[in-house]
Amino acid sequence: MAKSSTVKRPSYVPKDYDLLKVVGSLKDMFNAGVGEVCNVVLFPRKKLSGDFNGLARRLWKDFGDPNDLEFPELHKEDLEQVVTSLRGRQKIACQKIIDDIVTFESHGFHGGLRLIVPDSYMKVNAAVHEFHGDVAEGHRLMCCYNAPVTEALRNDEAVYKGIRTTVSGRNEKEFPVYKPEKGAKPFSFGVGDIWYQVSNYWSDVDAFIHRAVETKAGDPPRLLFAAT
Ligand SMILES: [Fe+2]
Repeated sequence: MAKSSTVKRPSYVPKDYDLLKVVGSLKDMFNAGVGEVCNVVLFPRKKLSGDFNGLARRLWKDFGDPNDLEFPELHKEDLEQVVTSLRGRQKIACQKIIDDIVTFESHGFHGGLRLIVPDSYMKVNAAVHEFHGDVAEGHRLMCCYNAPVTEALRNDEAVYKGIRTTVSGRNEKEFPVYKPEKGAKPFSFGVGDIWYQVSNYWSDVDAFIHRAVETKAGDPPRLLFAAT
């Protein structure tokens, strides 16, 4: 495993907590030992410029369907098509996501930009609002381009509740759920931060325990990029 350069740990993540590592580049992120020595690696970024909330509303107008239980998942080609018709800060935001996707792909990560609204998929899949560990084929690269960003819980502040069966898109899934211990301090990553999380709780380390914060009616859709 390559040694990561020392990077300042943001004040919004717990100090002295080895299961979360902080790095300064994507390359270091993939070399940090996720699933071996830690369950999540964070690459913090400075505030991204652009109007991501405005972009989210525009994308929902073009691609959203309130009657579909599955959230829309947009790919680079979709965004490249939209960006030509955008102006100003929405265009800057859209171009930033396209540039990120190109970078992620150059590191071998393929995924999509999810548009998550309160009234569709998330309503059915309420279990993602509970603290849980992901169960999937591979570890996942994530980035929230607008608030609310995923919330996480230290493993030593979590109490295991059991396995919950839930609906994910159109499929049923089982995953472990947890509750915060008394006095626990859940934490969130920053808007635009990139993180790489364990997606399989049978890995050498314990699950990365996290939950989706609920958006309220009238909020812009969440722009969540997820790739494996
Ligand atoms: Fe999850």
